[in-house]
Amino acid sequence: MQPRSQNIVFHHGEVSRADRERLLGQRGCVLWFTGLSGSGKSTVARAVERRLFERKHPVQVLDGDNVRHGLCKDLGFSATDRTENIRRIAELAALSVDAGLIVLTAFISPFRADRAQARAIVGTESFVEVFVDVPLAVCESRDPKGLYKKVRRGELAEFTGISSPYEAPDAPELVLRTADLTLDRSVDQVIEYLDRRLFLGTPGNPTR
Ligand code: ADX
Repeated sequence: MQPRSQNIVFHHGEVSRADRERLLGQRGCVLWFTGLSGSGKSTVARAVERRLFERKHPVQVLDGDNVRHGLCKDLGFSATDRTENIRRIAELAALSVDAGLIVLTAFISPFRADRAQARAIVGTESFVEVFVDVPLAVCESRDPKGLYKKVRRGELAEFTGISSPYEAPDAPELVLRTADLTLDRSVDQVIEYLDRRLFLGTPGNPTR
């Protein structure tokens, strides 16, 4: 989509993304967690944040419930609103990646096309799609926020996995089956992946 405003010129600063990444000792990227409500996206993202923080990496977490209290508080759960939700998060994440941060996003992001758009906005070389793959029945049995119960009582409409679709990723970079893994093991898998892709500094260029 073209910007609606006219007479705007993109301004590049004196400090490049590569400069910032050198300073921070990491490569900016987005870990885009997607999955049903109750699959463990936020839990894993927070645990990864803690692990990276302990290794002195600057990290930012963007979480569905939190972002919907501010940046996206005007949006509901219609398909159109979810698309706009994901677009805004992707734009925000792209700015943070440009600042050199490792960004962890935890949104259901149920639509394939929206996630593809997020990947395009961020740039595919910096975008890691993490499918938190947990059967609906397990998410419903966990029901951490009591929302599935509300849905079954008919008090909540357009709920992902029940009355609104969830389109599973075709080719995610990572799959976490949190029903069969300890939290620590899930975090290990994410960190191993980041290490393998050299997002956390290269062995020949020890940054810390
Ligand atoms: S998304 O579909 O637009 O990506 P997002 O991740 O921001 O959703 O928000 C999902 C969170 O909102 C859920 O974890 C849940 O706590 C809450 N929620 C409230 N109503 C719904 C609904 N109808 N469908 C899904 N999640 C809902």
